[in-house]
Amino acid sequence: PPVLILNGPNLNLLGHREPETYGGVTLAEIEARCRAVAAEQGLRADFRQSNHEGVLVDAVHEARGSGGGILLNPAGYSHTSIALRDALAAAGVPVVEVHLTNVHRREAFRHRSFTAEVSDAVICGAGAQGYELGLLHLARLIGAGGR
Ligand code: DQA
Repeated sequence: PPVLILNGPNLNLLGHREPETYGGVTLAEIEARCRAVAAEQGLRADFRQSNHEGVLVDAVHEARGSGGGILLNPAGYSHTSIALRDALAAAGVPVVEVHLTNVHRREAFRHRSFTAEVSDAVICGAGAQGYELGLLHLARLIGAGGR
């Protein structure tokens, strides 16, 4: 089954952007790790990044009814996007949200995630490894027939 691994705004700058907060791992390195874990789990990884809300919404629509799942780091849109939240709610496939940082230990505006409220699971604060953990859980959810 396909797994859409979707990355929101500014994550293209990973490894260079605020490394004291987000670490030195680049998005390309995360992609490589995700591809390895997905292959081990028998999943087909479709790894994407966009800085544009509507492009992220379109990607979620594409994954609708795919029989797979979505692993997503909505980045700043977690805390603002009702549109992305609504798209996920209509996706009909399991959704796991991941954040590199522990958003609960950060500014109050990061404590609410609209997209997490429609996700099956949320992993935050585990750094780049959160993507791998999220994929393992997603594989289990997909295997169990989704939600
Ligand atoms: C983030 C946390 C968000 O609050 C922030 O806007 C990001 C990255 C994370 O992975 O820790 O861009 O999603």
